[in-house]
Amino acid sequence: MSGVRHLYVHLPFCAHRCGYCDFVTVVGRAGQHRAYVDALLRELELEQRVLAPRLETVFLGGGTPTFTALPELVRLLEALPTAEEVTVEANPETVTPELARSLRAAGVTRVSLGAQTFRPELLQVLERVAGPDDVRRAVHHLRDVGFDNISLDLVYGIPGQSPSDLAADLDDALALEPEHLSCYELEAKPGTRFTHAWGEELALQADAMEDYFERVVATLTAAGYRWYETANFCRVDGARDLRARHNLAYWLGRDYLGVGIGAVSTIEKERRRNTPRLGRYLEALAAGRTPERELETLDHDVRARERVMLGLRLDEPLPLAGLRHALDPAGLARVERLGLAERSDETLALTERGRFLGGGVTAELLASD
Ligand SMILES: C[S@@+](CC[C@H](N)C(=O)[O-])C[C@H]1O[C@@H](n2cnc3c(N)ncnc32)[C@H](O)[C@@H]1O
Ligand code: SF4
Repeated sequence: MSGVRHLYVHLPFCAHRCGYCDFVTVVGRAGQHRAYVDALLRELELEQRVLAPRLETVFLGGGTPTFTALPELVRLLEALPTAEEVTVEANPETVTPELARSLRAAGVTRVSLGAQTFRPELLQVLERVAGPDDVRRAVHHLRDVGFDNISLDLVYGIPGQSPSDLAADLDDALALEPEHLSCYELEAKPGTRFTHAWGEELALQADAMEDYFERVVATLTAAGYRWYETANFCRVDGARDLRARHNLAYWLGRDYLGVGIGAVSTIEKERRRNTPRLGRYLEALAAGRTPERELETLDHDVRARERVMLGLRLDEPLPLAGLRHALDPAGLARVERLGLAERSDETLALTERGRFLGGGVTAELLASD
């Protein structure tokens, strides 16, 4: 086994915990950044044999990777295998000229910035540290050192966000000319402070979200962006393919290795999730042991169903070879009749209407277990 070409590295440290977030994060812990990078490199060494000699993508996600002490972040980047696309997630307020230079010098090719919104009062609802000007400054610092692949994350459906707020957010984001945009509907994650405070309001506005989603797609496609995945858009720029290659690997059902706390790997018939507990993780790797993991066996049917669910999020038709058994013929006929999906002999794709309805259509298409 040595064919995995996609590597995810989890960096969990954040300056503070935003109320709506349920990612595996820990606040502060400056004293543990060094030990954590040591542990990541040790875990990678233990897993080295599953990786292909050349990687296509490396993705450093968080948490806030750019909150990690800079010398440790640089040490990590320099020790990681090189890849054609190396992405780092960054929070705007952490992007100084020095950080931008260091990322560039360490071989990072793409930066994904969590803007979320440009409206100060909505940033407050989200409990964000960065203000709108931090986002703009971050983009400029990254451009100044030569980054030509920047993505911005936006969320919509923030309590109190009007349609005109959304339009202004999209305009503000477009003014920065990012190569890529991710626009997510804000989700009430169970157990978060945000859900406690705003969960009912989010449920009440659920119907309006279809309209918000349509506004996002209409605005970004009119601005020349390709709506290549349900929540993702890229600039169309001559010969350059500006889709997020790492995430594309997930949507295409490729195998990937994840290292770090809470990181997930999917390799052949196995999915495993590392312990989310920092102390246990550090302890195991300091002793040269693999961290505790939850294991799940993925049979052929599970992988085929996932492939359909994820593949239909993309704007390219899904090749059906090896996947037909995962589809329900009656469900397929129904969604075709309703104009939500189109089939050729070899492929299946959702129509524009089907893509707006998304998961509901895919659920209808899947054969029951
Ligand atoms: C791993 S997260 C965080 C990255 C970075 N630390 C930040 O805060 O910008 C990546 C993206 O997921 C999205 N996200 C996080 N929580 C979400 C939620 N509850 N609903 C929708 N999107 C969410 C945000 O857009 C965020 O930028
Ligand atoms: S949203 Fe980002 S910065 Fe906020 S807690 Fe989650 S990972 Fe950390």
